Amino acid sequence: MSDHEPGAQSASKHRPKHRHVGEPSLALETDHQINRPNKVAIVGVGMVGSTFAYSLLLSGLAAEIVMIDANRLRAEGEAMDLNHAVPFAHPTRIFAGDYADCAGAALTVIAAGVGQKPGETRLELVKRNAAIFGQIVPQIAKANPDGIIVVATNPVDVLTYITIKLAGLPRNRVFGSGTILDTARFRYMLSEHLGVDPRSVHAYIIGEHGDSEVPVWSLANVAGMRLPTFCAENGIPLSAEKMDEIFRQTRDAAYEIISRKGATYYAVAAGLMRITEAILRDQNTVLSISSLIEDYYGIEDVCLSLPTVVSRRGIERVLRLELSPLEARGVRKSADVLRQTIESLEAAG
Ligand SMILES: NC(=O)c1ccc[n+]([C@@H]2O[C@H](COP(=O)([O-])OP(=O)(O)OC[C@H]3O[C@@H](n4cnc5c(N)ncnc54)[C@H](O)[C@@H]3O)[C@@H](O)[C@H]2O)c1
Repeated sequence: MSDHEPGAQSASKHRPKHRHVGEPSLALETDHQINRPNKVAIVGVGMVGSTFAYSLLLSGLAAEIVMIDANRLRAEGEAMDLNHAVPFAHPTRIFAGDYADCAGAALTVIAAGVGQKPGETRLELVKRNAAIFGQIVPQIAKANPDGIIVVATNPVDVLTYITIKLAGLPRNRVFGSGTILDTARFRYMLSEHLGVDPRSVHAYIIGEHGDSEVPVWSLANVAGMRLPTFCAENGIPLSAEKMDEIFRQTRDAAYEIISRKGATYYAVAAGLMRITEAILRDQNTVLSISSLIEDYYGIEDVCLSLPTVVSRRGIERVLRLELSPLEARGVRKSADVLRQTIESLEAAG
């Protein structure tokens, strides 16, 4: 309504004494009344968590980033260092916090965990990280019952399963980074061989984020052209040996990187960024993330990765790929491996 329309009043002369329903308040809101949709909490700000925080700051996607770690001094140091990059990046409130500060976060990313001790078995390591999750997850869920939890700590599929059980949140709001990284590696390796931008390579790694992961060769394509056709049309060799080599380089990339620099964090942080963007911007992006799978090629009650539509609500839907018989056997084997670990953990109490 303009000032010249009938009924228009001068705000200064006729300001109402009492506010009516729907009228704007002139009072400043208190802090807790402000909805902060772009708040992100990170639990575990070691190499993965802090690299993710740095990518998030540079992206300008988050208004607020909370850094939480058992090592409080580390969280404070990371927050200070990141804050000094704010003048070069985007206004972002970054601080070291406690679990209560997860309140109001659109998502909480968990990258907390301990590494393998010399001589420690994989199961012993899982047990120690599961115990850490037993402390962390209920506190996150209590502080933020409306938020999404994204697990990055390894073994990510087993810890995602544990997080779902511990959090008691709807299943669409708890998932793991799963094979988002393996899929990126696969697309990169393929792009190098095919001579096209990795973003133009549509191919997925599904199943476990680990040794039993499965490349979905039967559906891999560039511009809708399956790889045998694309390669034949473009004079690119694609032997079984080459495919095997590309997959081995994908699956074993972490070992290769860790043997050279001790840890991997840039690519997984970029993957976590992609998940965050899909959530904060409600993008309905298809990403290979780990979630609770039921009734898929006989797989039940286990978390593993399939291409999944991710939005502001978390998981919109899991895409049930039609696999070749070999791929279906592979993903069932992956599920068996994961189920065995969960059962061993349950047996160990
Ligand atoms: N999902 C993936 O694709 C992927 C890729 C790379 C690494 N990772 C995993 O991410 C995890 C973190 O790796 P990183 O290199 O950052 O390790 P890191 O050792 O650098 O950091 C781990 C952090 O967790 C913190 N922490 C330990 N116990 C805690 C607790 N109870 N509460 C809060 N914080 C706690 C530690 O203080 C440390 O700062 C590992 O499990 C690693 O295997 C996953």
